Amino acid sequence: MLPKLTTGIPGPKSQSLSEDLKKYECRNVTYTASDWPVFWQRAEGVNVWDADGNRFLDLTAAFGVAGLGHGWSAQAMREQSEQLIHGMGDVHPTSLKVDVCRKLSELTYERWGAGQGKTILSNSGSEAVESALKTALMATGKPGIVSFKNSYHGLGYGSLLGSGFERFREPFESQLAPLRKVLDFPKGGLDDLAHLAVQLSELDPGQIGAMIVEPIQGRAGKLVPPDGFLGMLKSWCEASGVMLIFDEIFTGFNRTGQLFACEWENVVPDMICVGKSMSGGYPISACVGKASVMDAWPESTGEALHTSTFLGNPVGCAMAVASLAEHAPNSMARQVQITGDKLKKELEKIDNALVLEIRGRGLMLGMELRHPDGSPAGDVAGTVLSDMLRRGIMMLADGPEGNVLAFTPPFALSDDEIEFVGHQLRNAISSSQHQLAGR
Ligand SMILES: Cc1ncc(COP(=O)(O)O)c(C=O)c1O
Repeated sequence: MLPKLTTGIPGPKSQSLSEDLKKYECRNVTYTASDWPVFWQRAEGVNVWDADGNRFLDLTAAFGVAGLGHGWSAQAMREQSEQLIHGMGDVHPTSLKVDVCRKLSELTYERWGAGQGKTILSNSGSEAVESALKTALMATGKPGIVSFKNSYHGLGYGSLLGSGFERFREPFESQLAPLRKVLDFPKGGLDDLAHLAVQLSELDPGQIGAMIVEPIQGRAGKLVPPDGFLGMLKSWCEASGVMLIFDEIFTGFNRTGQLFACEWENVVPDMICVGKSMSGGYPISACVGKASVMDAWPESTGEALHTSTFLGNPVGCAMAVASLAEHAPNSMARQVQITGDKLKKELEKIDNALVLEIRGRGLMLGMELRHPDGSPAGDVAGTVLSDMLRRGIMMLADGPEGNVLAFTPPFALSDDEIEFVGHQLRNAISSSQHQLAGR
């Protein structure tokens, strides 16, 4: 459905809520400005309505969570919440927890012909990464972590240990153990892979237990590495006794046009982390690994070494069971490829000197904006986001300089909506350009 605006953006209710939020929420959580944010009230499919009754087209899928569309798993949530909202995940669990772990094994290691998978459930992506890093230490006894420049794995202390996104680490650096080696993420072609091979050869694997990587970097700006990248990492990890962890928290569940992005290269990791669209909206995530790797954890003697109060929450599990079944058929990946190609083609029609490149896979696309002197146009991207909001389209920007417009909509985006996005974006970029030039 195309957007419909009934009040100004942000409307009076959003403005007044913003004022209150500034009073009561800690600084540095929600960004507020005169033209940002609007307050969400409800959402359905590809649309979101704000507190003032404005209807938007959502090109974010709310951080990639609503791939199947907003509200898709609401029925599973309703039915489960009438029976049991909360249980005792690691003491007296529900059958739903068994179902989710089994289904995750089927969709990953069993589907990949790599035996059985075992799972540690958790609540956020960051925690899934922490489960993987702990498992790698258990399995190898080696504390070091290899990660990639501008990689994003969440903001918990454990996940920050391997993060390559410096901005998020800097204020806390003094409390982060110096365990990581950060390699360049190859964005280009074979030269980049040759450079990576040199960097790998310079590492001392004696101290390294884990390598964590996003198969396509998300927050870094939707960067797709050249073919052969994941395979090269796998060979190095196997030869070095290092656990290879794919962070598919964003790319997982068909976002890139394959059930998992590692399937573009057919490379099987030791562990894979998933979250976001796993349930379509409930905070649930998982680290799934080869059974032989996960069995590095000792049998529990009664007190789990790693758990949390909400682990395996029944409502989250019921929503995940429904979502995983919907994601499983190949037709879903195919739909994302087709819609992604259409969206990419529409974006490519935008003829503006500021647009350096449109890249990505499936419905995980980025448009990089640069000034004529080559500097990142984060300023233009910022004004484009606000302008698009006023045009009824919700968007975010990525990249360390915030100059990559991000397109990660729910999968059911229609042809009309794609055309509408192209038209509005073309106008928004040129009007932002003029606005900034006039300052
Ligand atoms: C690749 C990746 N890893 C980890 C995370 C962290 O997930 P969460 O915010 O649920 O902790 C994100 C979130 O955007 C992500 O994109």
